[in-house]
Amino acid sequence: MDIVVSGIRSTGRLHLGNYFGAVRQFLGMQRTHRCYFFIADYHSLTTHPDPAALKASSRQVLIEYLACGIDPSIATIYRQSDIPEIPELYMLLNMHAYVGELERVVSFKEKVRKQPDNVNAGLLTYPVLMTADIIIHRARWVPVGKDQEQHLEMARNFVQRFNRFYETDFFPEPYPFRQSDGQMIKVPGLDGSGKMGKSEGEAQAIFLSDEPSVIRKKVMRAVTDSGPTTVNTPLAATITHLFQLLELVSAPDVVKHFLDAYAQCNIRYGDLKKQLAEDIIAFLSPIQEQIKALEADDARLKRVLHDGAEKSRQSAGHTLQIVRELMGFNS
Ligand code: ADP
Ligand code: TRP
Repeated sequence: MDIVVSGIRSTGRLHLGNYFGAVRQFLGMQRTHRCYFFIADYHSLTTHPDPAALKASSRQVLIEYLACGIDPSIATIYRQSDIPEIPELYMLLNMHAYVGELERVVSFKEKVRKQPDNVNAGLLTYPVLMTADIIIHRARWVPVGKDQEQHLEMARNFVQRFNRFYETDFFPEPYPFRQSDGQMIKVPGLDGSGKMGKSEGEAQAIFLSDEPSVIRKKVMRAVTDSGPTTVNTPLAATITHLFQLLELVSAPDVVKHFLDAYAQCNIRYGDLKKQLAEDIIAFLSPIQEQIKALEADDARLKRVLHDGAEKSRQSAGHTLQIVRELMGFNS
């Protein structure tokens, strides 16, 4: 059975981009693959959260994984920091990662631009830690959104290099899990400027735990254009974000209704936004119920982490033992 690994940085609440880009794919794979889903708490250190915030974010991500339906009785759910084999493998891999190639990673260059006063070494080696996360279980598939494509390409480079250097085929090359159309998912933000994300500003992201009133407010303030002026023109780039969101949460006939109205030039964006807000609220309502129940169930959360750490360490320990032998340790 193919192995799957994925994680989300614990920087707070999950948004719809995380849900459709990553979590929903986990859900589709947990019954058919051997899945390891983790809370990437070490990865969140690059932005220097205070310890209490880090603790709260990790707990929140765990709650939201479970509320979305990731099932610890079939998938292994764990915290990255509970698995000491991961940082050990990261250190070993760092010896075969070159500063030049790490400096060329787009996400690194972006961080250098956005936070020039905090260009730490952890940011530079982020793709190496991510590779360790993936290959610690010898995963073949990694369900992530489009923004992670280059990180996975790096992971394949590091795997190829390791296998070649140590003359082994121990590690499979990890690939992003793709939709049936071959595409990776990118959920747009409400402002239409790019992807929905925490670092892109709270107002353009819908969080899984946002109250209905907050969702209505954010969606009603979403950016639109001035509307179509000629009948049967293709959707303008300035409005596709709202249609893409509609497609994720609304029934097909609702999407068709607004597409037809757009084609006929009689669309009212106010109506589209109202519908979108209500459909997001309905979509999130069962997840929010679960979030509330889990928030009060410390015993369950503890148990999930405890069992997950144990199962994950078994697999990680096995990998590391072989890696150490391949590299000339444990002789
Ligand atoms: P953020 O970008 O908000 O900081 P993360 O970097 O923690 O979120 O992303 C966690 C996971 O969610 C990754 O697999 C990433 O690809 C996915 N993801 C985040 N935002 C989006 C988005 N807008 N569309 C698709 N996938 C996304
Ligand atoms: N880099 C991913 C992100 O920012 C999170 C992540 C860390 C991850 N390690 C991973 C995702 C391993 C998949 C597999 O979202």
